[in-house]
Amino acid sequence: MCGIVGYVGNKNATSVLIRALKKLEYRGYDSAGIAVYTGEEIVVQKVKGMLKNLSERITGEVIPEGLKGKEYTDYENKLALKTDDFIKGSLGIGHTRWATHGEPSDLNSHPHTNMDGTISIVHNGIIENYAELKAKLQAQGVVFKSQTDTEVVVHLLDQKYKATGDIFKAVIETLHVLEGSYALGVICKNYPDRIIAARKESPLIVGLGQGENFIASDVPAILEHTRDVYYLGERELAVLYNDHVDLFNFEGEKIIKEPSHVEWDMDAATKGGYEHFMIKEIHEQPKGLTDTMRPRIVKDDSGKPVDVFFEENKMDDAWKTADRVVITACGTAYHAGVVAKYAFEKIARMKVDVDVASEFRYRDPILDKKDIFIVISQSGETADTLSALRLAKENGLKVVAITNCVGSTVSREADDVIYTLAGPEIAVASTKAYTTQLLCLYLLAIKAGKLRGTVSEEEATKLLTELEGIPAKIQQILDGKEVIQKFASQQFNKDKIFYIGRQFDSATSLESALKLKEVSYMHSEAFAAGELKHGPIALIDPQTLVVAIASQPALYDKIGSNMVEVKSRGATVLVITQDEKAFEGKTDEVFKIPECSDTLASILTVIPAQLFAYYCAVQRGFDPDKPRNLAKSVTVE
Ligand code: F6R
Repeated sequence: MCGIVGYVGNKNATSVLIRALKKLEYRGYDSAGIAVYTGEEIVVQKVKGMLKNLSERITGEVIPEGLKGKEYTDYENKLALKTDDFIKGSLGIGHTRWATHGEPSDLNSHPHTNMDGTISIVHNGIIENYAELKAKLQAQGVVFKSQTDTEVVVHLLDQKYKATGDIFKAVIETLHVLEGSYALGVICKNYPDRIIAARKESPLIVGLGQGENFIASDVPAILEHTRDVYYLGERELAVLYNDHVDLFNFEGEKIIKEPSHVEWDMDAATKGGYEHFMIKEIHEQPKGLTDTMRPRIVKDDSGKPVDVFFEENKMDDAWKTADRVVITACGTAYHAGVVAKYAFEKIARMKVDVDVASEFRYRDPILDKKDIFIVISQSGETADTLSALRLAKENGLKVVAITNCVGSTVSREADDVIYTLAGPEIAVASTKAYTTQLLCLYLLAIKAGKLRGTVSEEEATKLLTELEGIPAKIQQILDGKEVIQKFASQQFNKDKIFYIGRQFDSATSLESALKLKEVSYMHSEAFAAGELKHGPIALIDPQTLVVAIASQPALYDKIGSNMVEVKSRGATVLVITQDEKAFEGKTDEVFKIPECSDTLASILTVIPAQLFAYYCAVQRGFDPDKPRNLAKSVTVE
């Protein structure tokens, strides 16, 4: 998704903006641009392609071919700094664009400007009524340069400014005309001391520096300058000067809010010695899980875990009386929901419906006020998930959100929020967010089980004790990752990879297949193992790798038979299990996971699958952090 930055201060804005945009690269983009006020005019530079292309365009210098690794990064940084020699000014806005309306091109890139070049804006989101607004503006003689929805905003703003003579009033009036979602950054030649920023349904933060202030779509962009931020709320505006920031609502009334202090440091948002964010984040899972579970597990005086505690604990009564849990999410977060279905049924004996959020909202779902509605979203900004949340609330349901992002829209709109404390997840493919989501869902199921009397004190203690041991077990798997790396180096050219499993393991199969296809572009699918014989087995040939996930001892015989079925048809078979002996003669390779109960094993079985996906991507020469066509935060439907 698009990334926005803005700077007002005493430094040269050009390189500050480009370097800040670099920190937002993880969001995915296809073009980049900046607008800087030089004291005389607003200079705009924008290009299709990467940020390096922007620095090259501004400086006229090209990064030499053949540079790799640190040499390349150093050169790119040097070039970004050099842009200050070409565009001088200490007020500016910048943007990385992920195309929605209009192809990726120089003209469609942001910032966009009014016809006389005196107002410039960057935008993240979608203006839903842009076609109608554009037609009206064109009829009044406005000439559009791009195919974007965004350009209507700057021309509208221009009209309102000419009518009111006041840029702030013009912004407010413009916002009232716009439908859709937006985070906006605005600069105006006649107001060279300020940036105006606004948000509705798209994330935007304000970074508070000393003699300088920033806007950004996300914290990593400003972390090298400040840790003090305002998370702009829904329908809020900020006017930033170099020495202070004023906040307003969309009615133009001043509002007061407390700044937040960001605890995590730059290292948490950079690669910290790993080759890619994805492998770094896979390795951060023991820590993320420990951080997420520590404040939630209640112990008695002897140190025995006895209960679960969530900071925002408003819904105990609802859990006692609910008949059903409804879970909606997208992608990986949805897969966490599928695992949760098995967990809630088994531990809390509750009926569970799990839905892909993009489907849920269009099918007139049957909802009951007594249902508990759970949304899961790493970013807390996924448009489909948000719409599902809103639909549930419109129907009078209480919503519990599980998210990794403090201040995200999901976190603000839900009744009850459970944060996964995984730290920032930068790689597009979700890993540590997924396992911490699973952990929160397990904790919630145990809590619900206790409240509903389906879990005894003894069983709760047993499950919680086992959960406490999970981070060390993941570490054990990570310590043996070379086996997986070697296997990936033998299998990365396979035509088809099928993941099979039963019950909890069929849910892990879904996530494992998604991870592999996302980063390695290998064709991978997941099947409930018993379904093979109803069709998919026709695809099996010697170019197929079948990965069986087998952590449910009661089903070893069944999945073992499925493994034999595919092996006898020429497939290579790998099993992920805690009991290699159970599959002797039925498999070509084993990834062993540490001993674990079948109820909780899903947090472990996914780890070898994440590593396998990562190593296949690297073997095939792809950058796992930036899979093609994918964005980290999908804020459009
Ligand atoms: C897969 C992945 C996506 C996200 C999905 C939902 O690795 O990251 O499938 O899980 O786009 O995103 P969130 O969790 O931010 O709502």
